[in-house]
Amino acid sequence: MAQRLIVATANAGKAREFKKMLPAFDVCCFADLGVHCDVEETGTTFYENALIKAKAAAELFPHDFVLADDSGLEVDALGGAPGVYTARYAGEGASDDENIAKLLIALNGEENRRARFVCRLVLLSPDGKITSVQGESEGRILYEKRGEDGFGYDPVFFSEDLKKGFGECSEEEKNTVSHRGRALRKLMEILR
Ligand code: IMP
Repeated sequence: MAQRLIVATANAGKAREFKKMLPAFDVCCFADLGVHCDVEETGTTFYENALIKAKAAAELFPHDFVLADDSGLEVDALGGAPGVYTARYAGEGASDDENIAKLLIALNGEENRRARFVCRLVLLSPDGKITSVQGESEGRILYEKRGEDGFGYDPVFFSEDLKKGFGECSEEEKNTVSHRGRALRKLMEILR
């Protein structure tokens, strides 16, 4: 039977991507297990926040592998913001639409639209070993939303690798170049 791996996320979009990309594991997320595990992301780096989430999940599932991620968007013209504040850019509990609206306003009149998605993964094994990797995906912030696919900031992110928006591509296509896809492939290399 495949080794159980608990993905410490309540985000359905992320959970779906992890499941697709880790077929060798029996991947479960909090929603599958009926668990609610909300921790405050008090870190100042993606690594610190991913570790906080992984440790909280490991307390609930001490006998399983636990995988946590922290991801976000770094926009050059905003000095790397929103960074670790990406999920709550327009305030605690902000919707994707509110976050996107704030980002487009912040970049109003700005020609340098360069940005990247960053994904930091932390894997905790039952014996407490920490494995951590980071993946990045370069792109540009569009002037308006494009496409119907994806989640979060996807509708305003134009991928330099795919030469189209993340909101305009299938999940499979996005996984080949996404920050999470790249981080996961690095992790799989290490685990091999
Ligand atoms: P986290 O759950 O703290 O990692 O929040 C990350 C933030 O970045 C959320 O607002 C997500 O919607 C956004 N985000 C992370 N990965 C992606 C992605 O692949 N596409 C679009 N938005 C993303």
